[in-house]
Amino acid sequence: MNKTDKDLYILGIETSCDETAAAVVKNGRVVLSNVIYTQIPTHTLYGGVVPEIASREHVMKINQVIEKALTDAELGWDDIDAIAVTYGPGLVGPLLIGVSAAKAIAYAKNIPLVGVNHIEGHICANYLTDNELKPPYMCLVASGGHSHIVRVDDYAKYTIIGRTHDDAAGEAFDKVARAIGLGYPGGPKVDKLAREGNPDAIQFPRASVGDSPYDFSFSGIKSAVLNYLNGAEMKGEEVNKADVAASFQQAVIDVLADHTIKAAIDHGLKTVALAGGVAANSLLRETMKERAESAGLTFNCPELIYCTDNGAMIASAGYYEFIEGRRADLYLNAIPNLKIGER
Ligand code: KG4
Ligand code: ZN
Repeated sequence: MNKTDKDLYILGIETSCDETAAAVVKNGRVVLSNVIYTQIPTHTLYGGVVPEIASREHVMKINQVIEKALTDAELGWDDIDAIAVTYGPGLVGPLLIGVSAAKAIAYAKNIPLVGVNHIEGHICANYLTDNELKPPYMCLVASGGHSHIVRVDDYAKYTIIGRTHDDAAGEAFDKVARAIGLGYPGGPKVDKLAREGNPDAIQFPRASVGDSPYDFSFSGIKSAVLNYLNGAEMKGEEVNKADVAASFQQAVIDVLADHTIKAAIDHGLKTVALAGGVAANSLLRETMKERAESAGLTFNCPELIYCTDNGAMIASAGYYEFIEGRRADLYLNAIPNLKIGER
């Protein structure tokens, strides 16, 4: 691999939940390697992520994953310009494994260290797929722990426009999946089953909250699904699970897509983007594309592999922090409730 001096090569490390991941990205855009060790099979046994077990698995895998990221990129430590690591939000134990590994390597190899916000990383996944994408744009970030509409004012500059008042969208998918017996992780399973169902079979609520047209509430939809299932059970009626999955998914996606597109139009932006694990949802991708284009907006979304947790998105976000001159020192700590835009 020929490395020129003006190119910047960032190693990204991600351990905030149940993926141990590392990647090397050139200039924030070109992925040279992307190694993901997923713990999903382990946590499936328990029906959800067990933080203590996640921490232990990260400890077991982190060094191998980082070494493979360098090997796959055909680079050595001397080629790495900075190490970017997720320091929040997320589970404190898992975050600490990534942060400790990154600090140890940064110190031993004398490489600059950059702390990255996991949610901002999800947003930057869009840069890995579309080389032309430039701020400003409006981004919907929907994952297992977060649902936000974020205005990306500039690289590494974010303003929250809308947020959930209760459950995150991915959390609602996971809870509904459990209720209809699909298991963990629920999102992809609901997505698949919904393709066999009728989205108009059951009218679940499309909730708006408070006085903000951009905020969300998903606990009402989730409760309506649970009430529907309980009601059917009490009457001894058989439930069509595919119809429940399709109707629930449609209700969540209508709200996510409509609020995001309204936010973009109201703020005079021409582009909307998707990010986070729920951005892997096939109906959300199609619906956002259709509604954005019919509103005259450009639509972006990351490739599926960059929607769920990965190191490449952290390396991309780290690149934009790095060129802004931001550096972390060896006191960098995990911040489980780190907010978007907080520095
Ligand atoms: O971003 P992510 O990998 O981890 C967090 O930062 O939370 O997102 C995981 C979430 C889970 O709730 C999962 O069920 C959801 O993303 N998810 C999906 C799909 N794939 C993953 N939700 C709906 N449809 C999908 N295809
Ligand atoms: Zn995530």
